[in-house]
Amino acid sequence: MIPSQATQLQIDSAIKEYAHTRSALLAVLHLIQRERGYIAVEDESWVAARLDLPPAEVAGVVSFYTMFRTKPPGRHHIQICRTLTCQIRGCRELVKHLEKKLGIQDGGVTPDGRYSLITVECLGSCGTAPMMQVNDDYHENLTLERLDALLDSMK
Ligand code: FES
Repeated sequence: MIPSQATQLQIDSAIKEYAHTRSALLAVLHLIQRERGYIAVEDESWVAARLDLPPAEVAGVVSFYTMFRTKPPGRHHIQICRTLTCQIRGCRELVKHLEKKLGIQDGGVTPDGRYSLITVECLGSCGTAPMMQVNDDYHENLTLERLDALLDSMK
C-alpha cells in the first residue's frame, strides 16, 4: 500500500537527514507503521523500492525488531517488558493476569480488536520495573491493582 501524501513528505524529509538513503530505513518504517498501525508485505516492497534496498533486507529488519508489527494491533496495544529487571519485579504474574483478563495469549489480539498483547525485551525503564507500554505511553511501577485500574480506564 502506498503511504499517504503527508507520510511521503515526512519520509522525504527523513531521508534527507541521512548521508545515505538506505540509512533512513528504520525512520521510514516507523513513519509507515505510525500511519497504518503495522507494516504489511506490500509496505516492505514500497520501502525497498523507495530506498533502493533488496526487499529481503527490509523484511529482515521488520522481522528482527519487536517494535515493528506485521499485522494490525488492537486499539490498545499493550507491550509488557519481560527482561530481567521486570522479571525480578514480577512481570510474569502481570502477563498471566493480562492473558486471563483479556482472554488472549502473548502475541494475540482480542476478537473485538480492542486489545493486543505482546511481551517485549527491555523498554529502557528498568528503574521503574515492572512496566509496560500502551500505544505511546509508559506505565511504570505496576502492581496487579494498578494494572486493573489501567485496564478499566481503557474501556
Ligand atoms: S528490564 Fe524492563 S524496562 Fe528494562
